[in-house]
Amino acid sequence: MLGETLVSAAAIAERSAEVASAIDAAYAGADRAPVLLCVLKGALIFTADLSRLLRTAVEVDCVSVRSYGGGTASSGTVDLVKGATGDLRGRDVLVVEDIVDSGHTAAFLRRHLGECGARSVRLVTLLDKVSRRQREVVVDWSCFSIPDCFVVGYGLDYDERFRNLPDVHVLHVE
Ligand code: IMP
Ligand code: MG
Repeated sequence: MLGETLVSAAAIAERSAEVASAIDAAYAGADRAPVLLCVLKGALIFTADLSRLLRTAVEVDCVSVRSYGGGTASSGTVDLVKGATGDLRGRDVLVVEDIVDSGHTAAFLRRHLGECGARSVRLVTLLDKVSRRQREVVVDWSCFSIPDCFVVGYGLDYDERFRNLPDVHVLHVE
């Protein structure tokens, strides 16, 4: 099942540092620390690494959403399993995603965070499967655009497995 490495840990580290610099520039002069909002569980590892590359002082919070069963395609409906712990009213929120695929999750989160009263919402993603988009969403920073294949590792799972692999691999699903 587990296929070739698509994005290596070394490539992730190098590209994340570039993206972190761009994020630092975007938030330079912010009057209050932005909130890095990790989208559990897939973005756990990316958030941990990215946060340590930022020079910007940030707060970290998490949300948990569900759009997948055990399969490999979005159901199109997104549920908020757990909201942020902190009050996001008036805050600059940077959503940290593992992957933007259909765009349903990102669109849902942008709307939800707007309803929470966030002052600004930006989104950074490790991976972007541009060709799979069903909803148009703004992705402010993307580390890697990838082809239409199912991937695991560096936080991404298939049925809760493979999250702890250091590299991103293609998964061959039947
Ligand atoms: P979207 O709502 O279809 O954009 O999908 C967002 C979520 O689907 C991501 O945060 C992932 O959790 C999951 N996902 C999409 N593609 C993959 C993949 O190739 N591997 C693992 N998870 C994926
Ligand atoms: Mg996810």
